[in-house]
Amino acid sequence: MDGIDYISLDVPAIPADQVNELVAFHNSYYHTQRHSAQWIWQYQTHHAPKAVFTIARNEGRLIATQAMMPIPLRMGPVSILSSKSENTLLLPEYRGKGIMESLYEVAVAECGQKEISLIWGFTEAVKAFRRFGFSVLPAASFYRRIGRNPFVSLRHRLLKPASVKQKVASAAGYVLSLFKNWRAAPTPHVERLPGYRILQHRIDPRDLGRFKARSRQLFPQLISLELDSDYVEWRIRSHPFLKYTEYQVVWNKTLKAYAFVTQFQGTASVSELGAEGEYDATLLLARILEDYGNRCGEFSIMVNPGCPAALGIVAALRVLGFRFSDAWNLVVRDLSNDHRSHLSDLSNWNTSALWTEGYSM
Ligand SMILES: CC(C)(COP(=O)(O)OP(=O)(O)OC[C@H]1O[C@@H](n2cnc3c(N)ncnc32)[C@H](O)[C@@H]1OP(=O)(O)O)[C@@H](O)C(=O)NCCC(=O)NCCS
Repeated sequence: MDGIDYISLDVPAIPADQVNELVAFHNSYYHTQRHSAQWIWQYQTHHAPKAVFTIARNEGRLIATQAMMPIPLRMGPVSILSSKSENTLLLPEYRGKGIMESLYEVAVAECGQKEISLIWGFTEAVKAFRRFGFSVLPAASFYRRIGRNPFVSLRHRLLKPASVKQKVASAAGYVLSLFKNWRAAPTPHVERLPGYRILQHRIDPRDLGRFKARSRQLFPQLISLELDSDYVEWRIRSHPFLKYTEYQVVWNKTLKAYAFVTQFQGTASVSELGAEGEYDATLLLARILEDYGNRCGEFSIMVNPGCPAALGIVAALRVLGFRFSDAWNLVVRDLSNDHRSHLSDLSNWNTSALWTEGYSM
């Protein structure tokens, strides 16, 4: 379409007034009230020179955004910095004309300049993303369970910035889930076997490294978030808006399971959970249910049930009354020339922690 300017912004140098414009663009479309400080944390405080933010303007008017957020991934033996596709938004009157496809190619070229070889994201807009060159893997499933404080969840749903229709739909969906899941409210007692301890403090990176190494031996093709110290510090320990609890299950001196949990919008979000077996996952999740049950109306966790490394977790979720709730599409675009077919094999993706509360979409 003529008269459209496609612009790649220099992310670390985007001035405050332009950040305000980008945030206002999204808030106005989604009826949200995100703050510029959230945007700045997300894009300008972690690998900012590797972040990509592209926009389209029509005669000066902002009409589209497309972001690529740097996320470290471990793919079998190698670590890479990947891009998570975010902020894909084009004003309705400009859709269906190939504008986002063109903007996407500008963003992809920028990724190439920054030596990023893999883009992925979660989306409902699969038809559009197929056109943008992505493979679609219906991988990421949310499992949810009710907590003992439905009031906080209902309150959040009714007071959040959204249209009245969205608020009513969200509150009605929650009430329905209460009816469906009312039997799950008590936390089942899980007996602690000899030698097992549940700790609630910082996980030693060496223990985590050994845990991950054992997992890679069992599942050499696994693709998962790379929990390097830099990332954990940025996203978990120094998070400016969310407070996380770090859990670990230790058997004698071996780390058997770990989790990062936060309370987000009335929900206890199990942001990352790793467990060697079903018992390790059950013990840890039961403790999380106990700790957060009175404070939250709901628990949620994202897992790929088709990933062999997650089978113990899925079994534990069932034992503890979690139910499959909804599935999201993981979309993947390989920018390398290496024909990495394992990237489009759903079973390789350990999606735990790839979805992250508090990021935009
Ligand atoms: C996604 C988007 C940028 C694509 O723009 P585009 O390239 O001009 O393509 P279109 O809007 O014509 O969409 C292409 C197809 O995808 C579908 N689609 C777009 N967004 C969708 C969504 N959120 N969920 C389901 N389908 C979606 C459209 O209905 C259309 O289907 P059709 O061809 O059968 O009519 C634009 O639709 C948009 O801004 N959507 C709202 C924001 C969004 O959903 N972003 C993705 C979230 S990660």
